[in-house]
Amino acid sequence: MSHTLEDGFGRRFHYLRLSITDVCNFRCSYCLPDGYRPDGKPKFLNLDELTRVMQAFASLGTEKIRITGGEPTMRKDFVEVVRRAADTPGIKTIATTTNGYRLEKNAKAWYEAGLRQINVSVDSLDPRNFYQITGENKLEEVMRGIYAALDAGFERVKINAVLLKGLNDHQLPQFLQWIKPLPVDLRFIELMETGLGKDYFDKHHVSGAHYQALLQAQGWQLQPRHRSDGPALNYAHPDSKGRVGLIMPYSKDFCATCNRLRVSAKGQLHLCLFTEHGIDLRDLLQDDLQMPQLQQRLRNALQTKKATHELHSGLTGVRQHLASIGG
Ligand code: GTP
Ligand code: 5AD
Ligand code: SF4
Repeated sequence: MSHTLEDGFGRRFHYLRLSITDVCNFRCSYCLPDGYRPDGKPKFLNLDELTRVMQAFASLGTEKIRITGGEPTMRKDFVEVVRRAADTPGIKTIATTTNGYRLEKNAKAWYEAGLRQINVSVDSLDPRNFYQITGENKLEEVMRGIYAALDAGFERVKINAVLLKGLNDHQLPQFLQWIKPLPVDLRFIELMETGLGKDYFDKHHVSGAHYQALLQAQGWQLQPRHRSDGPALNYAHPDSKGRVGLIMPYSKDFCATCNRLRVSAKGQLHLCLFTEHGIDLRDLLQDDLQMPQLQQRLRNALQTKKATHELHSGLTGVRQHLASIGG
């Protein structure tokens, strides 16, 4: 029996994105639409349930876990989750995606607990514009957090900026200037439509293709793409330490290199970011003795994963906001 999670299209899945909470202390307009309040009584997976998820995936070949949210560091036991991941045999890389708000204070402790990759959202380098997008006046704190992470030993911190027409789409020159001396990977992400924000999408979506052309005209070179690379197209420039990536989920072959699976904070397996319904795992997370059944459920699920998301064939977007699936 294979010990690797593989789908019907020969794609292998060594990478799990594990959401541990829907809660966030920012209010990014592209993620949480106005008026949204998380579930009143959320029952997020507890430490033992999370540990069993990690063990099951690791036993099936998962080597990397990215802890996501919501804002994962809002959970009081965040460091313990990192430690449990580090203690899971087979897990080689532990990563997280954060808004960076708690990074400056905690970068060192998180590194010591075993965290090795950090992705931080920075949607604007202008404080007022940052506030307009995120609802928080925290650009300086986030920036200090990024420098603290680099000091603490995190290599090539990744910076996420969602491309937003009329909000930050004029800031490419500032971003490129900022990363010139910094060993970071800045990624521009095309806005994805969530079921809760069609008007927002229509107003602010801008295609990454435009940025591709701008980068190429300025001497940025497309880097070779490997099967295990994930969804970004990466560019490098001889004069810049920082690199640039483009994540364009609406482009044609985006899913060909899909290498990730997702488990939501409430224990639902999502085979694709855009699948509306997850496959519940929680009932098999209650006892270590359930491990064989859990492994079998994961293997069976993989056989139903589709070749690509269905946005090209009429579906409009993620039905929920991305915080509930962990992006
Ligand atoms: P690493 O390769 O581990 O660095 O992961 P990443 O680049 O996917 O990490 P991150 O959490 O920073 O992802 C950035 C954003 O890209 C996510 O929040 C999503 O918005 C988008 N994204 C990442 N993976 C996928 C994917 O498989 N499909 C789609 N449609 N979007 C994705
Ligand atoms: N479109 C694109 N990316 C999104 N994210 C959240 N919502 C969206 C959306 N609607 C991503 C951003 C952010 C990460 C936490 O989630 O990349 O940095
Ligand atoms: Fe994979 Fe779905 Fe993302 Fe495509 S959209 S890369 S299938 S998770």
